[in-house]
Amino acid sequence: MNSTHLSDQPDLNQTLKSQMRQFYEGINQELNANGLGEYSLFLNYGYASDNSPEYAQVEVPKHALKKNSIKLILEVIGDCDLTGYEVLDVGCGRGGNALTIEQQFPVKQVTGIDLSGTAISFCQTHFHAEKLRFLEGDAENLPFADSSFDAVVNIESSHAYPNIYKFYAGVSRVLKQQGYFLYTDALPHDEIESYVAFLQKLGFELELERDITPNVLLSLDESAIRYKEAFETNPDGVNIANFLALPGSDIYEALKKRQVLYKIFRFKKVAQNWVDLSEIETTLNPNVMSFFDKQDQHQALGERVQSRASQQKKALSQQKQLRQQRRKIND
Ligand SMILES: C[S@@+](CC[C@H](N)C(=O)[O-])C[C@H]1O[C@@H](n2cnc3c(N)ncnc32)[C@H](O)[C@@H]1O
Repeated sequence: MNSTHLSDQPDLNQTLKSQMRQFYEGINQELNANGLGEYSLFLNYGYASDNSPEYAQVEVPKHALKKNSIKLILEVIGDCDLTGYEVLDVGCGRGGNALTIEQQFPVKQVTGIDLSGTAISFCQTHFHAEKLRFLEGDAENLPFADSSFDAVVNIESSHAYPNIYKFYAGVSRVLKQQGYFLYTDALPHDEIESYVAFLQKLGFELELERDITPNVLLSLDESAIRYKEAFETNPDGVNIANFLALPGSDIYEALKKRQVLYKIFRFKKVAQNWVDLSEIETTLNPNVMSFFDKQDQHQALGERVQSRASQQKKALSQQKQLRQQRRKIND
């Protein structure tokens, strides 16, 4: 495996993470500023049904926006009974998955955690259900006591963690015995075996593994039709196409060629084995390496998106002031 070692460059993990944070801060600030944020509760590719067997026990609500994203979380939960569960959603983004779990299942509480402070502020401002709480934090250093959750959910986020093994070890630590790790992501074909082997070494039993790459590609094809017109003339078109995984983008083509597979996993914690972290501290997630290769592009996109967001915010507040002045004059 062509791995890069964090020990060669001790600050690399932190550098990559702050790049990642900046990138998602930019996306969230843009969504908040352009008025569409209220309706953008998901940042994943979604799942579209084909003829393959499905496991969700709950129907997607008829009038829901982002049906494919709701379908994805429902398929990830499948027939897992969450009654009375303390659930943790790691990399919760804008809260759509946590909200869906809270609304559709009789859970005790859902906690969402994300690296992006802007995403967390959005969730804290918009969701007031008693059973929902949101915190800023890092998936590789989960700020929770041992054995505090019955289920950990992770939706299309782990590819962004520089040390994915540290995340897995944390999931095992915060889960109670017999707890579930309900997990989905786009992962490099060549790495999946070692990820699963590591989780098994930690004490997880693999109860279910599904390849949903065709469903995700179908969902991306559906979004491509909607997004094509919106972004065709945008100067960041190529980077945005990559973020949205539109046909022709690196990630879409890698899924199509099956170099990257989008999988759903259901792991059950049947034992708690302490694994020596010093070994895994050193290996860098190859997904993040490719992000790092494109770091300049991502940084540039993040900065442009942030500056556009602040311009939009300024324009919105000027409009608001104008409206208030007009109202005063009319009064
Ligand atoms: C593609 S989005 C998916 C968000 C959400 N799970 C969903 O399905 O809508 C990836 C999310 O992972 C978060 N993330 C990236 N690195 C993280 C880390 N180290 N710790 C916690 N969250 C992280 C990002 O901020 C972003 O919100």
